[in-house]
Amino acid sequence: MSKIILTGDRPTGRLHVGHYVGSLRRRVELQNSGEFDKIFIMIADAQALTDNADNPEKIRQNVVEVALDYLSVGLDPEKSNLFVQSQISELTELTFFYSNLVTVSRLQRNPTVKAEIQMRNFEASIPVGFFTYPISQAADITAFKATTVPVGEDQMPMIEQTREIVRKFNSVYGETLVEPDILLPDNQACMRLPGTDGKAKMSKSLGNCIYLSDTEEDVRAKVMSMYTDPDHIKITDPGKLEGNTVFTYLDAFSKPEHFPEFLPDYNNLDELKEHYQRGGLGDVKVKKFLNNVLQSELAPIRARRAEFEKDIPEVYNILKKGSDAAREVAAETLADVKRAMKINYFEDMALIKEQSEKYSR
Ligand code: TRP
Repeated sequence: MSKIILTGDRPTGRLHVGHYVGSLRRRVELQNSGEFDKIFIMIADAQALTDNADNPEKIRQNVVEVALDYLSVGLDPEKSNLFVQSQISELTELTFFYSNLVTVSRLQRNPTVKAEIQMRNFEASIPVGFFTYPISQAADITAFKATTVPVGEDQMPMIEQTREIVRKFNSVYGETLVEPDILLPDNQACMRLPGTDGKAKMSKSLGNCIYLSDTEEDVRAKVMSMYTDPDHIKITDPGKLEGNTVFTYLDAFSKPEHFPEFLPDYNNLDELKEHYQRGGLGDVKVKKFLNNVLQSELAPIRARRAEFEKDIPEVYNILKKGSDAAREVAAETLADVKRAMKINYFEDMALIKEQSEKYSR
C-alpha cells in the first residue's frame, strides 16, 4: 500500500514556533526522507470559517501568510502538494455522506470540540458547521487516502473520530476508505510548546507567540522577557526547571552542536540544567543562549520567506496548481464512495439492465 501524508492548518494567523516544533519541522523531514509516495498539505480555510463566519477577510488575508510560512520552512511544492481546502468541493460532498454515520452525542463527546466550544463561549449557540467540523476533517483525510497524519496532540480526537468513520463506512458499504495513523511529535516540549509568558497555550490574543516571520529583533526581545522561575532571584539561588519556559524552549530547539558554537562552557543541555538547579547560573546567560539557538534556526526561514515575498503571484500560482492536482485525487475517492454507496446510477450498467429486465417481463 502506498504511504500518503495529509495534514494542514487553519489560516487564522501567521504560524509560530509552536507550529514549527509541533508539526512543520517534522513535515519537512518526512518530505525529504523520500519515504512517502504522496504528501498533501492543506490550508484549512473552510474549517477556519466554521468559527469565523463573520470575518472572511481575516481568513483571506491569512491564506497567503500560511502559504509563505509553509514555503519558508522548506516545504517544497515539487515534493509536497500545497492546496486550499475550499477549492476542493468534493470534500463537502464527502462530509455530507459521512455525516449519516455519526451521531450528535458522539460529536458532543469529542474533547477538542468540547474545549473549543467553552473557549469561544459558544455553549448556547454553536454553529452547526463548527459542531460538525470533525466530520469534515475526516473527509479531508480520507479524500486523499492518507495513511499518516502528522499533527499536534490536540488533534488526537479528530484522528480517532476519522478512524471510527472509516471503520463504520467500510463495514456498511464495503472496504473503500483507508484508516489513517496519527504521527505525534517525539518529545514532550514539542508536543505542547508554551507561550513566552509560560501560559500553556500560545495565542495571538495573549500576545505570547514567537512567529516564524518575526524579525531578529522581535525574537530577541521576546526571548529576553520570557517567563522563567519566579523564585530564582539572585544568580546564586538554585533554579527550577519545571514550568521554566526558557528551558522548555531549549528542550524543543537546542542541538548538541549549539554548545561548542554558542556556549562552550557546557558540553550539553544536561550540564546547563544541572548548573541552573544548583545555583550560580543567571537567567540572562541562558536566555542569550536560547536567543542564539532560535536565531540560528529561524534565520534561514526568514531569508527564504523574504525571497517568496518578492513574488506573491507565484505563491498563489503554487496554491492553484496544488489545488487542481488535489481535486483530481479527491474526485477519484468521491467516485469510489458513490459506487460503494450505490449512488452511481449512470455508470452502473448492471443496474440499468436489471431495471429494464424487471419491466420487460
Ligand atoms: N484542525 C486542524 C487545525 O486546527 C486543521 C486541519 C483541518 C487538519 N483538516 C485537517 C489537520 C486534516 C490534519 C488533517 O490546525
